Amino acid sequence: MDATFTLTVNGQQRTVSTDPQRLLLDVLREDFQLTGTKYGCGEGQCGACTVLVDGEATFSCRTAVSKVDQKSIVTVEGLAEGEKLHAVQRAFLDVAALQCGYCTPGMIMAAVALLRKTPQPTEEQIAAAMERHICRCCAYPRILQAVRRAASELSGVAT
Ligand code: FES
Ligand code: FES
Repeated sequence: MDATFTLTVNGQQRTVSTDPQRLLLDVLREDFQLTGTKYGCGEGQCGACTVLVDGEATFSCRTAVSKVDQKSIVTVEGLAEGEKLHAVQRAFLDVAALQCGYCTPGMIMAAVALLRKTPQPTEEQIAAAMERHICRCCAYPRILQAVRRAASELSGVAT
């Protein structure tokens, strides 16, 4: 039976009446038209579907909408302020940390979650935050470079 859930999505309160077991990924993409969050494996193995749930990087393909009732969700669409990209988005563009771009929203959300908690991460902390994310184009060196660059910019440390 359907139930009604209230989520704050990218700062806006949204309600949805749906099957409680429906995936957050599907609600975001199909009900809210937030298609920046990608469907990759659907099995919690690739990270393409990552969003922030109350600040935590979360695989939306493994998260029932009932689990995020009354919670705050941030998707890749919620990072920029108007025309001004988030520092992580800008860093990915600056170092061309993508090829096809399919993994990019999930990578960016993982990096944002990391840098909010750990503004000056070590190499090990960056690797740990990104290790569950797969890039089929193998852009890993530039993805890690982008995370380092964004960390430097956000923490005001020159590289
Ligand atoms: S689509 Fe969610 S982890 Fe791959
Ligand atoms: S840029 Fe193509 S999957 Fe990562």
